[in-house]
Amino acid sequence: MTEVIIVKNQDEAGSIYAQRVARLIESKPDCVLGLATGSSPLAAYRQLSALVKNDSIDVSQVRGFALDEYAGLDPKHPQSYQSTINRTVVEPLGLDPEKIHVPNGNLSTISEAGHAYDQAIEDAGGVDIQILGIGTDGHIGFNEPGSSLASGTRIKTLTEQTRIDNARFFDDDINQVPTHCITQGIGTILKARHLILLAFGSGKAEAIAETVEGGISSFCPASALQLHRHATVIVDEAAASRL
Ligand code: GLP
Repeated sequence: MTEVIIVKNQDEAGSIYAQRVARLIESKPDCVLGLATGSSPLAAYRQLSALVKNDSIDVSQVRGFALDEYAGLDPKHPQSYQSTINRTVVEPLGLDPEKIHVPNGNLSTISEAGHAYDQAIEDAGGVDIQILGIGTDGHIGFNEPGSSLASGTRIKTLTEQTRIDNARFFDDDINQVPTHCITQGIGTILKARHLILLAFGSGKAEAIAETVEGGISSFCPASALQLHRHATVIVDEAAASRL
């Protein structure tokens, strides 16, 4: 069942996420968080790190797995998802970097990296709470329209639209945006015990309407959330405007 929560702003959404994650960490100190990049989760990470500091929550055992990574981009590149997760989550929350994993986009090993990543998630006992953003075309992670709803972690080609959307992180130059990525599959994402998808602004309204009220279809990868037992979609009024 998909629970939809309409909030006033990103901070309110972030604090709902932060409360749920903080409760999880208190009850299960070595919990597994599913992490995402993009601008949508940023307020949630900020709220969580404030709560962790305020309530002196011990995060030393928390483990984490990120959704995706660009293929062939140096992990040290400031826009690699490895760097982004370090900067936006690991450092502000004070997580142990050894316990936080990002898919390996190295081109020479990428064909085996997907299976190994899914295995590592399974060995960790699965993801407890997965945070998700959504692309304007309904993608989650980097599962573009047409992705199999049963897919595991694998290499994918980025669509032109996603490369245009993400050019803002690469000097507004689409030629600098990688053409491929490694992403958790939709099947991988659906194995998490709780999904929390965040979307803000009118640019996401169409994708949110398809996700929540459209038919379940690989043309809107996020519509797979309807198959999940415990999915929460938190949106502002603009992103909810087509519901
Ligand atoms: C990228 C990421 C997605 C993210 C999407 C939306 O494509 N791979 O995980 O959901 O961007 O980003 P934003 O939240 O900045 O709109």
